[in-house]
Amino acid sequence: MSSSDDDGPDSEAANDFLSVSEELEGFLMLYRFGLEEMMTKVNILKQELTHTASYDCPIEHVTFRLKRTTALAEKARRLGCTSLEDVRELVSDIAGIRVVCSFVSDAYTVLEMLQRQPDVRVVQIKDYIADPKPSGYKSLHLIVEIPVFLSDRTERVRVEIQIRTVAMDFWASLEHKIHYKYQRAVPERLRDELAGVAAATDRLDQQMEQLHRDSRGTRESRDPATR
Ligand code: GTP
Ligand code: MG
Repeated sequence: MSSSDDDGPDSEAANDFLSVSEELEGFLMLYRFGLEEMMTKVNILKQELTHTASYDCPIEHVTFRLKRTTALAEKARRLGCTSLEDVRELVSDIAGIRVVCSFVSDAYTVLEMLQRQPDVRVVQIKDYIADPKPSGYKSLHLIVEIPVFLSDRTERVRVEIQIRTVAMDFWASLEHKIHYKYQRAVPERLRDELAGVAAATDRLDQQMEQLHRDSRGTRESRDPATR
């Protein structure tokens, strides 16, 4: 093969294709940085509160994920995006963090702590705990923008944070599996059962919170040092 063949139209097409991949890689890298910055913040809160709140930390566990490129492409297509700028504007869950708490009050405590951070700009809050989805889904959804400091500029990157209790998380993961299995056509009987379990989850959350309050009250009234 001569060198002029290497520069021919086929190779140009191949280079175009590669440059698109590189652009996408650079785009997603920003979200990975944003995710890492935000995870650092959440982990600092978790460690500090574990230390200062005498092992009564409101954060039970934290998970994170970067949206897979196939899922991102599918969502971008569904939203009618025609450029990465559109994707940046319209897809808010490329970087996602899930904070799982023991109690409902803890979920709001974590929300307030994140809202108070001066470099975290809150873009949107959806309170599906106060106002659950028709499916029974409950969670606090927060979309934030966080600055990522690069060598020559600062980029603001969006991160979606879901905050929920262990019970809400258990319910959501089962519901997700059922929806995945039935491809959205969930039989009515199962939907009814899920709604019933969502109600049971609510009761569990309320009872656990009450028990937690009672135990704290008892402990505090017995131990003057903790007052
Ligand atoms: P997408 O659902 O991602 O297209 O975004 P949206 O703009 O509709 O935001 P929404 O706040 O409704 O949901 C965002 C995310 O919350 C989803 O990707 C899920 O992770 C979770 N979620 C929302 N609704 C449900 C639900 O009914 N069941 C479960 N299991 N998860 C849900
Ligand atoms: Mg949705």
